[in-house]
Amino acid sequence: MLQLRDVTKHYPQGRRIVRALNGVSLRIEAGEFVSIMGPSGSGKSTLMHLLGALDTPTSGEVFFQGKALHRLSDKELALLRRSQIGFVFQFFNLLPTLTAAENVALPLMLAGHGRCKALAPALIGLDRVGLADRASHFPDEMSGGEMQRVAIARALVVNPEAVLCDEPTGNLDSHTSAEILKLLRSLPEPGKRSVVMVTHDAEAANYGDRVIHIRDGLVEAEEAVADERRHVIRLSHA
Ligand SMILES: Nc1ncnc2c1ncn2[C@@H]1O[C@H](COP(=O)(O)OP(=O)(O)O)[C@@H](O)[C@H]1O
Ligand SMILES: [Mg+2]
Repeated sequence: MLQLRDVTKHYPQGRRIVRALNGVSLRIEAGEFVSIMGPSGSGKSTLMHLLGALDTPTSGEVFFQGKALHRLSDKELALLRRSQIGFVFQFFNLLPTLTAAENVALPLMLAGHGRCKALAPALIGLDRVGLADRASHFPDEMSGGEMQRVAIARALVVNPEAVLCDEPTGNLDSHTSAEILKLLRSLPEPGKRSVVMVTHDAEAANYGDRVIHIRDGLVEAEEAVADERRHVIRLSHA
């Protein structure tokens, strides 16, 4: 379970203050797929960084699995980020000098596992995202959709409680986007893994169970996505 309680985030910028978030409260249950939608500059990435313990709010509280993040030490926060959260970004953020399998294995190696021990689950993870045959390819030998699949496998390799995606289809064509969205759609696990996706694209947002609309750093509206609507959206890409 992820929760923000009356969170603000203000960035000092010269003599001005940029008010990226202005009092956001939201709750994401275990097993949910929630889309956070808003225009560019509305505070989506800021919100994602706070949910993922990559940054701290100016005021308000962030909870991860009931734990208040502001009560954790830097060491505990680093462990939380590394072992319980998977991140997926718009530009994939793969290391160009590592193969697909090594990129996926990296979080395990950073957690102290040896290379062989880390590569075995990485290969299983690549198989899960349909890239078993790309294991020894480098990022510049792969398409955007393939790179994002590698990034998703990397996010999953630690078996995280939450997968946080920031504009995961922002750099992909519509056909490839639909494939990636279907893959993300398959990741939540009832009572366990949640997926949070920020996007400015309404069609992408509708892959979620729920869409939270943000604007000017505030929650503007929230809607449940009807199953039939999700179905229609998927069919349009079939
Ligand atoms: N590190 C930062 N320093 C100053 N301003 C920032 C910083 N990060 C984001 N902002 C500002 O905060 C606002 C929200 O940004 P962001 O969360 O990136 O929005 P989005 O992801 O929805 O496009 C924008 O006005 C942006 O310029
Ligand atoms: Mg952003």
